[in-house]
Amino acid sequence: MKTTISLTGPAQLETESLVAVVLDHSEKDHSEKDHSEKDHGHSSSDKNKDAKPHLRVESNDPAVQSAAAELLASGELSGKPFEINLLHKPAGLKAKRILLLSGGKTKKFAGYDLRRLAGAAVRSLKSRAIRSFAFIAPSTIPPEEAVRAIVEGALVGNFDADYYRSDRKDQKIDALTILTSGNTDKAALEKAAAEAQIIGESQNFTRDLVNEPSNRMTPTILAERAKKMSAEVGLKCEVYGADKIKELKMGAFWSVAQGSDEPPALIIMRYEPAGAPEKPVLGLVGKGITFDTGGISIKPADGMEKMKYDMAGGATMIGAMRAIALLKPKVKVIGIVCATENMPSGKAQKPGDVQIAMSGKSIEIINTDAEGRLVLADGLHYAKQLGCTHLVDAATLTGAVVVALGYTNAGLFTNDDAMYERFSKALNKAGEKMWRLPLDDEYKENIKSGIADIVNSGGRWAGAINAAMFLKEFAEDTPWIHLDIAGTAWTEDQKPWIAKGPTGIALRSLVEFVKSFAATEKA
Ligand code: BES
Ligand code: MN
Ligand code: ZN
Repeated sequence: MKTTISLTGPAQLETESLVAVVLDHSEKDHSEKDHSEKDHGHSSSDKNKDAKPHLRVESNDPAVQSAAAELLASGELSGKPFEINLLHKPAGLKAKRILLLSGGKTKKFAGYDLRRLAGAAVRSLKSRAIRSFAFIAPSTIPPEEAVRAIVEGALVGNFDADYYRSDRKDQKIDALTILTSGNTDKAALEKAAAEAQIIGESQNFTRDLVNEPSNRMTPTILAERAKKMSAEVGLKCEVYGADKIKELKMGAFWSVAQGSDEPPALIIMRYEPAGAPEKPVLGLVGKGITFDTGGISIKPADGMEKMKYDMAGGATMIGAMRAIALLKPKVKVIGIVCATENMPSGKAQKPGDVQIAMSGKSIEIINTDAEGRLVLADGLHYAKQLGCTHLVDAATLTGAVVVALGYTNAGLFTNDDAMYERFSKALNKAGEKMWRLPLDDEYKENIKSGIADIVNSGGRWAGAINAAMFLKEFAEDTPWIHLDIAGTAWTEDQKPWIAKGPTGIALRSLVEFVKSFAATEKA
């Protein structure tokens, strides 16, 4: 998708379709009043129900306003997010069509929502075989932020996962123009668009990897894809097999890999730009289980096919390294992916087995289906050995995080408040949602073993926390964030802004997080 910034007046632009955002300016007063009165009774909800939307199209161009005027005044629209209307041959505009896209209440409307609207515009227009359009950036959001949101959101919307359908249409938007107005610095906006393009394309690169089924995305193939990408963008990439994993004494990683006929892969990608300070060195560690049967503690058949996306954390790190290599922030980053299948076999580990991790800690295997934390234990320890001063891991780690947070927020765990503050800002910039869960010492009880240092499964309660407590044993004192993306890496329903399938969650925040070190920390 080619992206252009234009300062042309929307009315003057010849395009297949203009896209304008419609916002509801009504409720403002009502909701403020409701809050101040602390009135949660019937009267306030009735009032809200009666409140008519007060819709305005977000463009200063009088021709755009008048093209939308009749529809907005008709009373036909709710103004709710993702309401879509397409008008043909709009009077007074050179555009062939104008798509009016509701964004909900103006007060709540932020970059997060604009991203999704851009995705919805792409998905609506491409399904009509339209290949190019122009999006009017709403002036309620600062122009650079708006440009980033529109480009990233449009790229997310442009991805479809139905690769193996013989009737796949593969409809895509080829060209996007973003119309901005006012005293904007065009060069700065073009830079923002170019960076957003790198990030959005990297997110789709990750989604491509996650989308592949396990017979087409073995650890070996994942490693090959990482190598190919690294060569293209100028990253150093090493891939190690079983021998090296055993030589490094990665007993936890190997305990999972030993049960599979597919060889495992330890993937290491290094970004060491000239002029970067010695420290920090950021370590991005990903869970790369290309298929999780559960092992001997085998999973039920129902829904097991979804376990092809159990390498999403690893794919996220590979995509993030791609974006980082192209954006070139002055900070060292090492990406590590522990890739293997989790299979039952005559060689598979069994419940009760004791494994010695690379760090020397002994682990009693209670459940062979708690395999992600095992491969990450050695990945995190290895990252520290390679000199990483800060660690972030991403993993589809627990069903329990889905119970806790559903499909909306990823789970976030950390041993370092300062790192959390920094990551929160990155989340905000990237328009992604994650929620911090606790890691109090009391939870450590749950992973005590009668025979070894720790067990790999802490039972039913606080399952997502127990998994994170296990990882914390290997991060130790190094500032570390763990992202449990089990509920958010895949969407079962298609949404107006995104296709059913892999989401690429966490990549954008990781990239913003890495960039924040380059901007503020000097040697
Ligand atoms: N890969 C799964 C977690 C998962 C569940 C990812 C649902 C995506 C969707 C993980 O390896 C797993 O099996 N976790 C177990 C841990 C338990 C045995 C302690 C779980 O969550 O049930
Ligand atoms: Mn598992
Ligand atoms: Zn798993």
